[in-house]
Amino acid sequence: MSKFWSDIVRELKPYVPGEQPKMQNLVKLNTNENPYGPSPKVIAALQAEAAETLRLYPDPNSDKLKEAIAQNYGLSASQVFVGNGSDEVLAHVFQALLKHSRPLLFPDITYSFYPVYCGLYEIEFETIELNAQFEINVDDFDRPNGGIILPNPNAPTGIPLALAEIEKILKFNAESVVVIDEAYVDFGTESAVKLINTYPNLLVTHTFSKGRSLAGLRVGYALGHKDLIEGLIRVKDSFNSYPIDRFAEAGAVAAMQDKAYFEETCKKVIATRTALVSDLQGLGFDILPSGANFVFAKHLKREGADLAAKLREKNVVVRHFTKPQRVSNYLRITIGTDVQSKLLIDALAEILK
Ligand SMILES: Cc1ncc(COP(=O)(O)O)c(C=O)c1O
Repeated sequence: MSKFWSDIVRELKPYVPGEQPKMQNLVKLNTNENPYGPSPKVIAALQAEAAETLRLYPDPNSDKLKEAIAQNYGLSASQVFVGNGSDEVLAHVFQALLKHSRPLLFPDITYSFYPVYCGLYEIEFETIELNAQFEINVDDFDRPNGGIILPNPNAPTGIPLALAEIEKILKFNAESVVVIDEAYVDFGTESAVKLINTYPNLLVTHTFSKGRSLAGLRVGYALGHKDLIEGLIRVKDSFNSYPIDRFAEAGAVAAMQDKAYFEETCKKVIATRTALVSDLQGLGFDILPSGANFVFAKHLKREGADLAAKLREKNVVVRHFTKPQRVSNYLRITIGTDVQSKLLIDALAEILK
């Protein structure tokens, strides 16, 4: 605390990111990164970008990247917004589109950055309780609000919501913006992107950090009606004109264009997830249905905090949340390679012996 802090900074409760350990040789299953490196075409594009041209600013509008993304989804570039990770995109979304006189709605168990943005931008919010199975009941979103945001699949539960259910939320809420945060959509969840041309109140956010193996490059984007995108651009151009640097644009364009590599790595992650779920069940875990590159798992006899600590002693890092109470016995386990799954299962088998 410093007397020089503004009032708002005194009140902030910042987001706490998952640990990025400095130790080598850990089985790192705690922040939902892709276990496979980016496409070789991405590496080549980044190497080509290491050139004299770095003395110049990048394109402030990231036109090449917007074009590559638009082409991939059959949209126009005016329906695409890009930013420094989807976290930055989301920050602009909260400020540009979700701050109104009525409260913003989001699930009570969800991405814990949402209440942080509300604190930063002074946005009033209400949380909607998930049911006993940690599912979203869309009828609960049929109430007065200033906007809605939810991840699909939800995080940290991993549970996907059917597109028909999302469509109900859009229909109930024609007067507010509905943001679907599809950070994990590439691992078997149906995307709402196909609804964008039907619902002008729909905004979908995506990231290159998960399915496209580029958490280190920091690129995310939003797709929606051009008027929503224009609002985001107004905030971006009042904040940082160049959020996408030359490497980020070149790498992300190459990643978007290498569809075959992307599909193959996602398929491998999904196959590892299926095998891991069955191995964990064999060890006495209860696992929520996952449409993501992680599973949310609870041991029927042992405490989550203790299991996470014991795994850490064996150099396996998973994520454990102490709050809310309802999830404090769960471990969020990122899907790694088959070899990492085996190391995890072997470590757990020893701990549970
Ligand atoms: C639900 C959700 N949305 C958005 C993000 C942000 O991803 P990034 O800033 O890497 O694009 C994350 C990161 O883990 C997430 O879990």
